[in-house]
Amino acid sequence: MNARVTGLRGLEFAVFDLDESAAFYKKAWALEEVSRSDGKLYMRGAGKEHHILTLHEKPRAGLVAVNFAAPDRYAVDALHARAKSMACDVVSAPHALSKESGGGYGFELKTPEGHLLRISNDVISHDKALGDEGRPTVLNHVVLNSADQETQMRFFFDVLGFKFSDCNGFMNFIRCSANHHAIAFAQSQGPSFNHAAFEMTNVQSLMEGVGRMKLADQEVGWGVGKHAGPGRNIFAYFVDPNGFTIEYTTDVDQVDDTYESHGGDYWTSLPLKPCAWAGDKTVPKDWLRYSMSGKDIEDRNAKCDDVISKKLATA
Ligand SMILES: [Fe+2]
Repeated sequence: MNARVTGLRGLEFAVFDLDESAAFYKKAWALEEVSRSDGKLYMRGAGKEHHILTLHEKPRAGLVAVNFAAPDRYAVDALHARAKSMACDVVSAPHALSKESGGGYGFELKTPEGHLLRISNDVISHDKALGDEGRPTVLNHVVLNSADQETQMRFFFDVLGFKFSDCNGFMNFIRCSANHHAIAFAQSQGPSFNHAAFEMTNVQSLMEGVGRMKLADQEVGWGVGKHAGPGRNIFAYFVDPNGFTIEYTTDVDQVDDTYESHGGDYWTSLPLKPCAWAGDKTVPKDWLRYSMSGKDIEDRNAKCDDVISKKLATA
């Protein structure tokens, strides 16, 4: 297989209140606004990527899309052709992308469980990185809840060129770059968003970020800790104003083709605890688990639907 995606660019959330979410991601999470248009807001991290988070104002919150980089335009065309030849749900043919989103060339398709993916090349990058100051640099990984991990993985392997990294018994980790995983799947009854991790330069930067979140009255849902299992990254998890679980992470394992992958039998045979440093003294709070299950967003959407229907009834 020649054409493949080579990295994560960012992700897109539908949010209830664009200004409230933008303020949270700017002041508490430390991203910077790049541009706005048509109810969409693009935010960058400290790295040079044009944007790593797009917010869409919608009456229902949810994951809109995950964005990936292709190495060149030929790869964009080849990936599109492969997706079509494999009868994937291709949403658009390769086309010029909007100026507000950094331009470039790309197309969209859906995974077998319906998650929208955008593949692009030639997106403008910023001339300079921003100062660190506890600011996320790039998007590191996205975890999706899945009822059919095997089918989802086959799609990422066969269509997009991902490679298998590990399975810990209930989650599968796959990669498209040196990062141990760009995507992981968590076993669930159906497809939904589990969490997204934003990369920090080092532990100092991660702790600065955690401190800033605490000063913004945001409670840590799990961490600071270090995963004992696949990826072995350092983590701190939070929940945003819409119910999305977001993570600061650093020190994720860097791997290449010599990496020895392991299945669930291997990882579950090890005496691993939730945190490599603090064992089972550092565990996810119940409300964080609930958010990771996707049910927090479902609940908030149901409340929003209720408010809208009552307003329509009295109009
Ligand atoms: Fe994570």
